[in-house]
Amino acid sequence: MSEGDAVDKLLAELSEFERAALEAFERASDAATLEAARVRFLGQRRGWFKQLEQRFRALPREGKRTCGPRFNEVRSRVREAFSKAQARLEQGAAQGGQPEAAAVQPTGGLRFGGAAVTAGRAEAFDFTVPGKRVRRGTLHPLTHTIEELIRIFGRLGFELADGPEVEDEWHNFEALNIPPEHPARDPNDNFYLDPRRLLRSQTSTVQIRVMERQRPPVRIIAIGRVYRPDVHDATHFSMFHQIEGLYVDRHVTLAHLKTVLRQFAQAYLGPDVQIRFRPSFFPFTEPSVEVDMSWDVRGGQWVELGGAGMVDPNVFRAVGYDPEEYTGFAFGLGVERLCMRRHGIHDIRLFYENDVRFLKQF
Ligand code: DAH
Repeated sequence: MSEGDAVDKLLAELSEFERAALEAFERASDAATLEAARVRFLGQRRGWFKQLEQRFRALPREGKRTCGPRFNEVRSRVREAFSKAQARLEQGAAQGGQPEAAAVQPTGGLRFGGAAVTAGRAEAFDFTVPGKRVRRGTLHPLTHTIEELIRIFGRLGFELADGPEVEDEWHNFEALNIPPEHPARDPNDNFYLDPRRLLRSQTSTVQIRVMERQRPPVRIIAIGRVYRPDVHDATHFSMFHQIEGLYVDRHVTLAHLKTVLRQFAQAYLGPDVQIRFRPSFFPFTEPSVEVDMSWDVRGGQWVELGGAGMVDPNVFRAVGYDPEEYTGFAFGLGVERLCMRRHGIHDIRLFYENDVRFLKQF
């Protein structure tokens, strides 16, 4: 074999060595495999590179000069590949899982959230465990009640109106014919924010707001919170809800009022409900009545649900309606009371404690 042939052969084998060594180091999936590859390719005694080096040394000077640079290049490349493989395996071990190069690929067909899950450590994610169930909430019983009241009165032709919870004295008192000396205006019985504004104590305020911006006929309900500084007990709370109704047109009478309230009561509480009016007084109605309901057919207790009456002429004057031309009825009922009756709830405070054991029953 000529000298040139020997050099060519050595260079070819050097390349073969390089390719095989790089591949082995890259593939090594654990420390033992890597060590075996190291011994085979870079071993000091009988490693492949050692053998190539011996042949290199046997070359005459000219051949050494030709092959030298390539030898150096291959040596550093292969050593570098070994170091890299070593670092990779150490890192994988520190993370307590299988190394990247050995990543199992069990997830080909499994998709999660639209993307294939290709986490290196297959055992970290058990796809067979059932997902966490998202628990559905329920509407608050008062929300149910309010929605139902809106539906029932909607069928009776009443529109839903709204007004602010922070009110002025005009809408909460004066326009409703409640004079300054009236006990209902006592600052101790109201939540005044400043001398002229308070948290509304009744939804009758919305009657005024609607009539101020609209001509008859008016047929509205308003449902919302009202505030009174009551001591809390099973039937009193300093914030509660009222449903207000107002119907103004020509020739409206007390008979219409009673019919509407009876129809409402029977729709909400059942056909056995009876309704009764007791004479009463409210500054904004004349005549005025208390509305009681009973659905114990054998003549059990009557429960007071609120007040009602024919709109007082002074209220019409306050909003610019002619009391000679129009008449109307109005009513105001407690929403909590209706809801409590319907569901057999005995303590108003349950509505506001946010106890899920109570709330999730509805
Ligand atoms: N606003 C009254 C209250 O809070 C309830 C009421 C009585 C409303 C008679 C009315 C009504 O509209 O006509 O006690």
